[in-house]
Amino acid sequence: TEKIKDLKERILELKKVKNAVILAHYYQENDIQDIADYVGDSLGLSQEATKVDADIILFAGVHFMAETAKILNPSKKVILPDLNAGCSLAESCPPDLFKNFIDQHPDHTVITYVNCSAEVKALTDIVVTSANAVKIVESIPKDKPIIFAPDKNLGKYVMSKTGREMLLWDGSCVVHEAFSLDKLIALYKQHPDAQIIAHPESETHILETASYIGSTSGMIEYVKTNPNNKFIVATEFGILHKMQEEVPNKTLIPAPAKEDNTCACSECGYMKMNTLQKVYDCLANESPEVHVAEDIIQKALVPIERMLELSK
Ligand code: 13P
Ligand code: SF4
Repeated sequence: TEKIKDLKERILELKKVKNAVILAHYYQENDIQDIADYVGDSLGLSQEATKVDADIILFAGVHFMAETAKILNPSKKVILPDLNAGCSLAESCPPDLFKNFIDQHPDHTVITYVNCSAEVKALTDIVVTSANAVKIVESIPKDKPIIFAPDKNLGKYVMSKTGREMLLWDGSCVVHEAFSLDKLIALYKQHPDAQIIAHPESETHILETASYIGSTSGMIEYVKTNPNNKFIVATEFGILHKMQEEVPNKTLIPAPAKEDNTCACSECGYMKMNTLQKVYDCLANESPEVHVAEDIIQKALVPIERMLELSK
């Protein structure tokens, strides 16, 4: 309310004074999305990070996203409201274990989903996001075997779309694995006029119910352009903010999570570690700052640039 409005104004003021830009992911809380200069999916955020003029990038998202912005802007200060904002996918793939895995399959092209640490990117041939994974895997010559990490659900989805076998790392997103198929079917029975749309980090049985599968930006684009008026949305709850702004007259229903989930819908606890107050403090203190070692920046930049090139 008044306090939030005041905090938002102070953030916008400070942003000008400090010559900072705020890049935010769709899973951030609504108030943070409202004060951001750009809100997007992982690909859009990486592309936006290549165009920054400002001195400071405040990244309202999770750690691997801020690292990617740093790798693309090594001379700029990149700050993250809460350094503990991690990701279950990134955590599932420790760089030393991943290196052993790659060493056991030296003939494989290493493709990693952007949801991984900078160290893992440094071991990678090409980075992908949910928006371009199918296209990039299709660009790899058919005779080249592929390692795909860390998301096994996205990996399985890409395998089904491309018909390619890939060696999958056993990682997953806690948020997208929390959807309940039984509850989703029950909800759909109450709303048979709805279309189910899902993020490819979801499990196969959820994806099989979906009329559209894509990245967060892809899902927003789909509800805007599809003539249907009702959608059940299987991804993190935060997306509904911008999505509803885009289609004010359509009905959007969040897909239900399993009984034992902390939230009736699915919320990413890591994304929600960032709060409006922490955004303000972070900008005021120019801290916490995201650091990536020089040699890792150099190595990780190569597969990120390949991805950006292949996404044009
Ligand atoms: P996208 O916004 O790129 O679809 O990614 C979703 C996600 O889980 C980011 O952590
Ligand atoms: Fe990671 Fe899943 Fe949260 Fe995205 S929603 S940041 S993949 S834990």
